[in-house]
Amino acid sequence: HKGRTPEEVVKKYLQKVRNPPEEDCTICMEALGGPSGYKGPGVTSVSRTESIGRLTQCGHVYHLQCLVAMYNNGNKDGSLQCPTCKTIYGVKTGNQPPGKMEYHVIPHSLPGHPDYKTIRIIYNIPSGIQGPGHPDPGKPFTARGFPRHCYLPDNEKGRKVLRMLLVAWDRRIIFSVGTSSTTGESDTVIWNEIHHKTEFGSNLTGHGYPDPGYLDNILEELKAQGITEEEEKQQ
Ligand code: APR
Ligand code: ZN
Repeated sequence: HKGRTPEEVVKKYLQKVRNPPEEDCTICMEALGGPSGYKGPGVTSVSRTESIGRLTQCGHVYHLQCLVAMYNNGNKDGSLQCPTCKTIYGVKTGNQPPGKMEYHVIPHSLPGHPDYKTIRIIYNIPSGIQGPGHPDPGKPFTARGFPRHCYLPDNEKGRKVLRMLLVAWDRRIIFSVGTSSTTGESDTVIWNEIHHKTEFGSNLTGHGYPDPGYLDNILEELKAQGITEEEEKQQ
């Protein structure tokens, strides 16, 4: 995406639409047949024929300017996610601050997985200064509760989840900077949309074992972030 303007990035994922459908754009809530309701900085005028576009995979239609505005509000990584159905175009990345991810096997079993050892993942992120793509660039952010320890059963599915989490870490989508819903603190490192199990032998927080649906849930959450088994195989 280097060297591409936001409009060029968005257009890569769009097909032309000859006749606008008689619907509203769900980004700005204005008619697709009329102009984009988005008025903000950096809005350039586009010609009538390309004022709307259809996303190539999912077919959802939006004002081009609305998609460009949405792209500019994100971390501008060359990827786009359909706001209706969450289909991802390109490779989605996040704004996770710099840090370290490590893992090893410990010779103990998790509740519900008596036949297997356990993978322990250790995430460590220090506090720092927010960069572009964070809520308040230039301002410090805190990092509470690190190192954070997380657990997976050391079986086939657990190891698959681990491989996909390594991809998620590289794409910076495991943590984010924002307001913690647990503590209410703002400008701090928080878990993103991928749930981790942070308790080993107990389940006091609800983020522990046993949880028979957990591995399938996290695989769904990884998929929603664009990380699938196929992707993991290509690594
Ligand atoms: N363990 C794992 N996930 C958690 C925990 C926890 N203890 N607490 C919250 N989450 C999940 C929430 O369910 C939510 O989906 O993380 C997501 C974001 O919640 P926040 O409270 O905003 O996240 P954060 O502040 O990062 O987490 C709070 O998690 O690991 C611990 O040390 C950390 O005590 C802190 C807690
Ligand atoms: Zn869509």
